[in-house]
Amino acid sequence: MKILVTGGTGYIGSHTVVELQQQGFEVVIVDNLSNSQAWIVDAIAQITGIKPHFEQFDLADRALTADFFRRHNDLKGVIHFAAYKAVGESVEKPLMYYRNNLVSLMNILESMAANGVPNLVFSSSCTVYGQPDELPVSEKAPIKKAESPYGNTKQISEEIIQDTLHADKRLNAIALRYFNPIGAHDSALIGELPLGVPNNLVPYITQTAIGLRPHLNVFGSDYNTPDGTPIRDYIHVVDLAQAHVVAVKRMIEGRMKASFEVFNLGTGTGNGVLEVINSFERVSGVKLNYKIVGRRAGDVEKVWADPSWSNQELGWKAKRSLDEMTASAWKWEQAYRARAKETNQ
Ligand code: NAD
Ligand code: WQD
Repeated sequence: MKILVTGGTGYIGSHTVVELQQQGFEVVIVDNLSNSQAWIVDAIAQITGIKPHFEQFDLADRALTADFFRRHNDLKGVIHFAAYKAVGESVEKPLMYYRNNLVSLMNILESMAANGVPNLVFSSSCTVYGQPDELPVSEKAPIKKAESPYGNTKQISEEIIQDTLHADKRLNAIALRYFNPIGAHDSALIGELPLGVPNNLVPYITQTAIGLRPHLNVFGSDYNTPDGTPIRDYIHVVDLAQAHVVAVKRMIEGRMKASFEVFNLGTGTGNGVLEVINSFERVSGVKLNYKIVGRRAGDVEKVWADPSWSNQELGWKAKRSLDEMTASAWKWEQAYRARAKETNQ
């Protein structure tokens, strides 16, 4: 069964391709390599023994997207990861974000309808909840006004999908709202690969530990939380990837309860920044150089998932602990830097 994974050389996409192939799916990747690299296709093949078909083009190009779907009209579904995702950059360059994230989605939906490809899994985000009134946050929580153009693209995308499904009864979609994905594949052959200075906590920690950054800034310790730092629901990227396989099977096997479904992907446990640092130091044996500085603009105080609807309906549950997440991130950082030194990657 053939599945298109857009953004399949990216962080979450590459881990999902591995899980799909290991479950017997044939995978086709489309990525324009704006935030990933071509060798990841080979790394995937090294893990699974199967090289996925890969096409490099921009999904915001309508003609190229239409042509791709005409050539692959036997697809059973699409998992759409391809998007820009840097919150701060989206504030600086809102139109770049709206154009890339929304036009790509519209091109894909249009081509799915034109070629009878019925099933879409969409990468959404817990950012749609903002600072929730109730914790843990369930899928029924109201959507809050987006804090950034990036967050707004996720809210608008969910609306575009729902309107399209309303008009075309042949289409189905599942929006998966990710909490904070971290960690890497056990093989350390794929992982998170931020270009330039990382925005997210865990790659900043591992890059500091390996000596690429002098210290980590901890953004605020005066929040109303047990350790004074913001709380997030960190989830291992492999657990997250496996949920996509479950979602795809649910669609293909006709087990959806409605044509549009939404699921939270989190562990249900929240951790502060200092807890993540402690976990990293424990598993790596490395003392991390960090400084507590002022708050980062736009950070919410605390958010963690109520995953009970996903657990019950998808029969999926995040299994890996925070220590497994930080240990795998560290193993990946070390392996990647060692390989990069050898090959000048
Ligand atoms: P990533 O940047 O590693 O992967 C995205 C991939 O999409 C990249 O390989 C990039 O080159 C590609 N891409 C972007 N625009 C494209 C276009 N127009 N045409 C073709 N390819 C394009 O990001 P990720 O962390 O793997 O995130 C995947 C998805 O999950 C994104 O939609 C992101 O918004 C969403 N998400 C991520 C997180 C997170 O913390 N990583 C959390 C919630 C949601
Ligand atoms: C986690 C915690 C920071 C870096 C972002 C997006 C969200 C989603 C996931 C896509 C916070 C603290 C971080 C650093 C720090 N992405 N931190 N020093 O902000 O929860 O979510 O990524 O949808 O939309 O907003 O993740 O990893 O940036 O931060 O102290 O150098 O780590 O303040 O408390 P965040 P993050």
